[in-house]
Parts: sequence; structure tokens; C-alpha cells
Amino acid sequence: MVKDAELIGVQKTLSPVLRAKALDNRLPDPILGDPYAEQAMRRLDPDYDKRRFGSSQMGLAAVVRAKAHDDWARRFLADHPNAVVLHLGCGLDARVYRIDPPATVDWYDLDYPSVIDLRQHFLPPREHYTLIGSSVTDLTWLERIPRDRPVLMIAEGLVPYLTESAVRQLLTSVVDAFLSGQIQIDTVPVWVWRTSKWDPTLRRYGTRFHCGFNDPAALADWHPRLEYLDEAPMYDSPVLMAKAPANIRRMHRLLTLLPGMKHSTRIVRFRFS
Ligand SMILES: C[S@@+](CC[C@H](N)C(=O)[O-])C[C@H]1O[C@@H](n2cnc3c(N)ncnc32)[C@H](O)[C@@H]1O
Repeated sequence: MVKDAELIGVQKTLSPVLRAKALDNRLPDPILGDPYAEQAMRRLDPDYDKRRFGSSQMGLAAVVRAKAHDDWARRFLADHPNAVVLHLGCGLDARVYRIDPPATVDWYDLDYPSVIDLRQHFLPPREHYTLIGSSVTDLTWLERIPRDRPVLMIAEGLVPYLTESAVRQLLTSVVDAFLSGQIQIDTVPVWVWRTSKWDPTLRRYGTRFHCGFNDPAALADWHPRLEYLDEAPMYDSPVLMAKAPANIRRMHRLLTLLPGMKHSTRIVRFRFS
């Protein structure tokens, strides 16, 4: 069996989000409904579901985030069937299989080389789909991408692990490289970044956040062609309230009453042309 023992630090953060997606798939009416997540999670950790099922689904918020990115991506690809997709910090997420784009779309999944190695063991290859093993901050990977088509950049659960200057360089380089496109990211506010060094999960993985934004819409100011579009609901998302088990719904209702918690993760979308 392939192990995740070779993963270090931030690379290990792919596991709790994959686990949330695997647990979601076992709900009678899943939010994301991703059988690949369940298969990959079982191989990563055969005992992943041994803890009490309901309480372990607190992580369902990560599933809401994935669904929001999927819904935006599907709409963009319906309007731009010749697009190039940059799925950055992909971890073991099976977005390309969930969305199943037409053959006119070229899809690139990028993460650190050891994560990409693991992906190759867990998820099948497909046409018009390329894996890139690289740090996202070493922007030479951008030279491998065709530039004459609209681009969709998705970075789910990645931005907080980069420094603000790396995020800025990434966004401005993508806008400079393409004529038009959409950028989907999620961010945390400054207080979550600052307190991340005490977050027990991040500490266990030996990592922490490196940036936070109280007003992620303002990132559009980094490039004259970049325009803020909108934000997707997260902890108070209607799909979470409709489909999560009752104890999880109650917990999330309480969490959103705490000052700052409601916006402790923000899923935002930009466009440029
Ligand atoms: C929280 S996980 C999210 C994984 C996936 N996007 C998902 O939502 O299931 C963060 C991912 O970002 C990747 N990552 C963090 N920093 C990175 C960097 N500088 N270059 C490439 N990948 C990075 C990690 O290896 C990990 O797979």
C-alpha cells in the first residue's frame, strides 16, 4: 500500500480535506458526492472513519468550499469550452474527475513533487490532463502552459500557506500570461493567520499560515486588469444547512454567531480580460 509517509509539513494538510470529502460521500445525500475521495482516503488511511461518524463530519465546511469552487468552475467551462485550467495545490482532490471537462479543455494539476507522486498511485490518468510536480512559487511551471486561451485558475486551500508576496507574484504573473480568465481562491483573515501558529492541526503537521487578508476583494488592486467578482457562502452555506447531519448544522449555526468565525474562510472569485 502507498503511504503518505513521504509527505512533509504543509503537504500533509491534504489529508483532513480529503477525509472530509470521503465522509461526505457516505452521507445519504452528499454535498459533493466524490467517490474518488473515498477510495483515495481509504488507501491513505484505512481507519480514517473509525472515529464517531457524526462528530468527525465537522470538516464538512471543507466540502462546501470544494463545491463552491466546482460550481464556479463548471459555469466558467460551460462559457469557455476551450479553456486551460490551472488547479494549484491540488493535493489529492479529484476535481478534474468530478467536473469531467470536455476534451477541448486542457487541465493542469500542480502540487509539490511528492504529492504528485502519491496522486499517480491513487488517481487514474486521463486525456488532456497534465500533472506538474513543482512548488507553485517557482513560476517556471507557467512556461509549460499554452497561453492563447482563456484560463481558469483554482487554488483551494492553498493561499494561506503562501506569503503575501508569493500570492501577489502568482496572481499578477497569471494575469500577465493570459488574455482573459477567472481566478478562484480562498483566504483567511489576518487574525486567523496570526493565530495559526497555535492551531493544533497545523502544529501537528508542522506548518502554519503565512498570510491573511481582511478584505480579499482588495487583491484586485494588485493588477489593473484584475476585477473582483464575488464571494461564495461558507459556514452558513444553504447547501451545508440543507444536507449536513443535525448536530453539525447546530454546531455551524453556533460558530457563525461567534465574532469573526463567519468569515474565517472566504471563497472569492476574480476575472480579468
Ligand atoms: C489544505 S491542502 C488542499 C489540497 C486540495 N486543494 C484540496 O482542497 O483538497 C493544501 C495543498 O497545498 C499544497 N501546497 C502548499 N504550498 C504549496 C506550494 N508552495 N506549492 C505547491 N503546492 C503547495 C500542499 O502540498 C497541499 O496539497
